[in-house]
Amino acid sequence: MWGAATSAHQVEGNNLNNDWWDFESRGKIKFTSGKACRHYELYNQDFDLARALNHNCHRLSIEWSRIEPAQGSFSESEINHYVEVIDALVKRGLEPVVTLHHFTSPAWFAKLGGWSSHNADKYFAAYVEKIVNALAGKVKFWVTINEPNVFVYYSYVAGDWPPQKKSYLKANAVFDNLAKAHLRAYRLIRDIYEKNNLAYPLISIAHNMQAFVACSPTLRNRLAVYLRHKLFNLNFIDKLISKRALDFIGLNYYSRSLVDSRSWTINGLLGDTCRDGHLTLEKNSLGWDIYPEGLYDLLIQLKKYKLPIFILENGICTKDDALRWRYIERHLKSMHAAMKAGAGVLGYIYWSLLDNFEWDKGFAPRFGLVEVDYDTYKRTIRESAYKFALVCKTGKLDG
Ligand code: FCB
Repeated sequence: MWGAATSAHQVEGNNLNNDWWDFESRGKIKFTSGKACRHYELYNQDFDLARALNHNCHRLSIEWSRIEPAQGSFSESEINHYVEVIDALVKRGLEPVVTLHHFTSPAWFAKLGGWSSHNADKYFAAYVEKIVNALAGKVKFWVTINEPNVFVYYSYVAGDWPPQKKSYLKANAVFDNLAKAHLRAYRLIRDIYEKNNLAYPLISIAHNMQAFVACSPTLRNRLAVYLRHKLFNLNFIDKLISKRALDFIGLNYYSRSLVDSRSWTINGLLGDTCRDGHLTLEKNSLGWDIYPEGLYDLLIQLKKYKLPIFILENGICTKDDALRWRYIERHLKSMHAAMKAGAGVLGYIYWSLLDNFEWDKGFAPRFGLVEVDYDTYKRTIRESAYKFALVCKTGKLDG
């Protein structure tokens, strides 16, 4: 399967009732999502582009705060909107890959403690039940939660994203609550399909993994690499797989993290990264190293789970579109090499179909296969998108 991804808050515009909108409105970051890409209105046009580019699947997210703007009150018109969105994909031969939570939560949920609340899984399940009932039968791929590890890190460890907490204890509790919420949603979705006599869909999370590489092979660095790989890359999926609640592994991969631990403390082992300029690689416009070897290594390591792997995000922000294509090509080569070595990969989804609102970094990073002009909202297909389109059509890298 070949496609591209978006998430609701990053492209739709006017998501007035979620915690990010509140965060942006209170001036906590320099940027506001505002109208974003106006994808809420322009989705038909955007899906036409995806189809013209030979994609056969598309990943998107449902905005919980639209479906349930106030606790317990569900919006039929917003549910219908997403039914229409999914129908618009299916009609074009684009298999929907649907995320239920992509970083944003309703403001009411955040006020009740958000993901640190003991009842978070219950609140989440009420919304999941509503939307899955409306979409069951149309959707074969569900992603409950996007990047629990990244979310926990930015929202509860680094304190950059709402609710801007910095506490290992809280982070741990939120991790557990996210796992609980996934397990509950997993069972619920399967029950709904069963009650409707539908074949079970495939359910997973979108899991961010980084290639942790020691900048010099000291004992401390090697220990730090081991710990980070275990805690960041493996812990969460190990937990869900041990409960038999992942039908495939949804993998988001972008970059490597160069580990240079300067002390034996928790922060040193888990947080320190290399500050030297050595071992420089090409980078994206946010300074992330381009390291396709990492995708190969991770895919090989994931083989042990004996589950299909679906690459749900891989991409680059850059103003240099030739670099974008090199990035895609090199990652596809890594993916292919891993497949030849026995990794079972279901598909590859590029992040992102469109330039969009990149969270606390605003609109400057350009991840899109399609350029968005934020004054006119005009879409322009980039050269890299045409090159990728050829791969989507032929399944081959060289035409
Ligand atoms: C991932 C997120 C996605 C986007 C990309 C660049 O971590 O899932 O929303 O921000 O990074």
